[in-house]
Amino acid sequence: MDYRGQVDSSCTVMAPQGILLPPSPHPDEDRPNKASSRSLLRGFIRKTRARLVVGTLASMLNAALTWATPWPMKILVDSVFGAKRLPTFLAFSGSRVELLYLVAATMVIFALLGGAATFVSALSFANAGQVFSNDLQVEVFDHIISQPPRFFDQRKSGDLTTRLIADVQAIQRALVESLPTLVNSTLTILGIMVILALLGPIFLGAVAVLGVFIALDLNYFMKKVKAQARRARNMEGLANSSAQQAIMGLVVVQTNQGETAESTRFSRFVNASTGHSLKANVSQASMSASVTTVLNIAIALFVLMAGVAVFNHTMSVGMILVVSSYARSIYKPLQQLTKRAGIVGVGLAAKERVSELLASDESLASAHVAPSHWTRRGAVEYQRVRFAYGGSEVIHGADLVIEAGSRVGLVGATGSGKSTLAKMLPRLLEPSEGTVRIDGIDTRDIPLQILRSFVAYLPQETFVFAGTLWENIVYGMAGATRIDAVTAAREAGLVEVFHQMPNGFDTVVTEKGTSLSGGQRQCVAIARAVARHAKIIVLDEPTIGIDPALEGVLNQAFERLTQGKTTIVVSHQRATLHFCERIYEVRNGVVSESSMGGFFDATPTESAQVAESFRVR
Ligand SMILES: Nc1ncnc2c1ncn2[C@@H]1O[C@H](COP(=O)(O)OP(=O)(O)O)[C@@H](O)[C@H]1O
Ligand SMILES: [Mg+2]
Repeated sequence: MDYRGQVDSSCTVMAPQGILLPPSPHPDEDRPNKASSRSLLRGFIRKTRARLVVGTLASMLNAALTWATPWPMKILVDSVFGAKRLPTFLAFSGSRVELLYLVAATMVIFALLGGAATFVSALSFANAGQVFSNDLQVEVFDHIISQPPRFFDQRKSGDLTTRLIADVQAIQRALVESLPTLVNSTLTILGIMVILALLGPIFLGAVAVLGVFIALDLNYFMKKVKAQARRARNMEGLANSSAQQAIMGLVVVQTNQGETAESTRFSRFVNASTGHSLKANVSQASMSASVTTVLNIAIALFVLMAGVAVFNHTMSVGMILVVSSYARSIYKPLQQLTKRAGIVGVGLAAKERVSELLASDESLASAHVAPSHWTRRGAVEYQRVRFAYGGSEVIHGADLVIEAGSRVGLVGATGSGKSTLAKMLPRLLEPSEGTVRIDGIDTRDIPLQILRSFVAYLPQETFVFAGTLWENIVYGMAGATRIDAVTAAREAGLVEVFHQMPNGFDTVVTEKGTSLSGGQRQCVAIARAVARHAKIIVLDEPTIGIDPALEGVLNQAFERLTQGKTTIVVSHQRATLHFCERIYEVRNGVVSESSMGGFFDATPTESAQVAESFRVR
């Protein structure tokens, strides 16, 4: 887990203005492509189709009930209290009191049906949102975790976790809280507008004008809310990154008195995020206010128009009730819609951020089955390998051949490219040109999973997870037990080291393994490699910064671990290299067999002894 951004935390502390600044001054510029956003929507519909259909049907019933609601009242006014005859299809032979009971009964039935429909639609849509975002979250996590290290070079881990957790939650909230309202309200409003237009040509024009105005208004402010929410989200991601980095580099922050700088940076992002959210609130309030005002004026106009029609005897008194009730029925769902615009805006912005993340995929192409002629002996060959970070090439055509089962050391100045070469073997990095072969087979033709169980890679800094020591040793090995862990430690000759810990193999280590010394963490890494029975071992500066007390034990363990295995050891420590049969030097981006001079912290006479000890045995 040697991601540069994390490793170099000391640099960011010293240059608080630099590394964590927003990548783009206009967060709008990093807009996702529309296609991926659409595919997220398509996925939602595909995965929750049944629930959406049920929810929509219930919503339609609900809307139909809203459309029907004013009519019993109209009958009450016109035909129970007034003298108007019932329409023929409602021919009723009973008395007026009986008619009153019938009207009341109808209203009760409407209320019961409405309650049931509301329950079904709210539940279906809410569950659809919940189930979808649950799957989405797992999908995003799997996506992130399958990316190669270079993906993380360009992204901030805090922003990734914001997308994974907060953005998915925002999508869920928008779906769960607004989808039932959205569908219900839209159906109700559209239906009422159609009915009003049918009731009289005078309403048609008014409804058309009102509809167009509301659509434009909602569209205009929704766009603003969404853009502002997106900016707020981006800033939140940066705030998260900044906090994460400060916490990870806490020792450096505190010992260099970086608290003020960290606090300033963090609050800058938080303030920027809040600033954008406040602007989004203004847009949302403006939307709410403008829609409400216009609607209220429209209601007055509708009632006025209906009143004129009653005076002209082209409409009954009961119809005023119907018209004003409809106008009010438009009002309520619209108000609910505008109230949720904020949640929807944030949800849409979050959807774009998640889509963008899912669309950017750098995961490695890999074969599905291993070539049948693969001997699995473990011979390694680098052929004319070139590699560039960004635009700058650091490996300029390196060749290296290691016979199966032989152990070689890799030396070279800091920054010469040793780790870069080492990481190519388990495909943590891919050569930009040339090939890395195992037993003559291009590593790209070996399924990634098989390759990585074939090659054990031990970085300088081993990552240890929160949990017991034995769980850490068999990390990633499905079905492995405590016994497997102890056996591996015994094979590596490290049982004593683990037994010395407070609870032996059951000792619980803290997050990132901070309760272990560097040497103890390295012991875990060695046991891990042994447990996997890898054929090829890559050790990248495994004893740098190791406590002297453990160094001897570790070097012995390395020797046992690599016995009979193809091994690359990157190191400057002669004790670590003593079992290597050949030493190669990385210089100017190429590899050559080393004379070993100058790489060991030894006196000239010692160097001679070292040279002696490196003779092929
Ligand atoms: N993730 C990275 N992004 C950009 N440059 C990098 C990255 N990792 C390493 N480099 C650069 O590539 C060169 C070789 O790095 P590395 O292989 O780690 O050297 P070594 O292990 O020999 O010390 C160095 O100049 C280093 O600064
Ligand atoms: Mg290195």
